[in-house]
Amino acid sequence: METLKMENVSISYGEKFIIKNINFQLRKGEIISIVGESGSGKSTILNSILGFLPEEGKIQNGEIYYEGKKITCLSKKEWQILRGKKIGIIFQEPGSTLNPFQKIGKQFFESFHHVLKMKKKEARTLMENMFSKVGLKGTEELIEKFPFQLSGGMKQRVSIALAIGLGPNLLLADEPTSSLDATIQKNIIEEFLFLKKELNMSILLVTHNLALAKYVSDKILVLSQGNMVDFGSPEEIIQNPKSEYTKKLLSDIPKIKE
Ligand SMILES: Nc1ncnc2c1ncn2[C@@H]1O[C@H](COP(=O)(O)OP(=O)(O)OP(=O)(O)O)[C@@H](O)[C@H]1O
Ligand SMILES: [Mg+2]
Repeated sequence: METLKMENVSISYGEKFIIKNINFQLRKGEIISIVGESGSGKSTILNSILGFLPEEGKIQNGEIYYEGKKITCLSKKEWQILRGKKIGIIFQEPGSTLNPFQKIGKQFFESFHHVLKMKKKEARTLMENMFSKVGLKGTEELIEKFPFQLSGGMKQRVSIALAIGLGPNLLLADEPTSSLDATIQKNIIEEFLFLKKELNMSILLVTHNLALAKYVSDKILVLSQGNMVDFGSPEEIIQNPKSEYTKKLLSDIPKIKE
């Protein structure tokens, strides 16, 4: 059974339809990338899956399924069970998941304790392991810091470490490497590929970077003005783009065809 299914999903903010009739399935151990222009609705899709749309945002049509179960309108309690443990999210704004009033170390301990029922020592080991996966050094100092004392890139890495540490089946990642330098970006992408291969994690990745999408994805979804204008394997998208918009995206980066 597919990990995630979006079936004829349309989303509006107020009167305006932002997402129009989106259909796709993400299987176990698959990576799908969503690419598209700024404002095309990429974050809206990701946020809708975990019930993080703002007040004015509404799923007007269609259904979202997680492992065959409808998750389009869950109760607060049901969301709590899914969030973090089953479905992890890395928001576009670095550090949105972090509590501004709590030190980093405490946030990891509480999260691992609450969600994974870990004792302090176990949580510490997992935290250190996750820090090293995202290239964060100086654990002792880092755990004593508040989020505002970290750079955007550090917050992004801390958020990734927290999200993947919980070991979700499905990871929603919204431009997770946007404020990181090339080497760290590469390490994190390799980590995603490892999680996919070793843990069969399914990943829905939003990126502006078509070359990156080509490298990591099983499928690419091209979004333009809320419409799904292309969907297929990287080879299909690159060799046989269906929409003018995809052709234009590809022509902007000529090297991708090599
Ligand atoms: N709370 C809101 N109320 C009204 N309109 C909104 C709201 N949030 C987003 N929008 C609009 O919805 C559209 C899609 O926004 P979204 O953030 O999903 O785009 P995106 O593809 O993630 O863009 P980016 O690449 O810049 O992150 C945009 O036109 C945006 O202005
Ligand atoms: Mg966005």
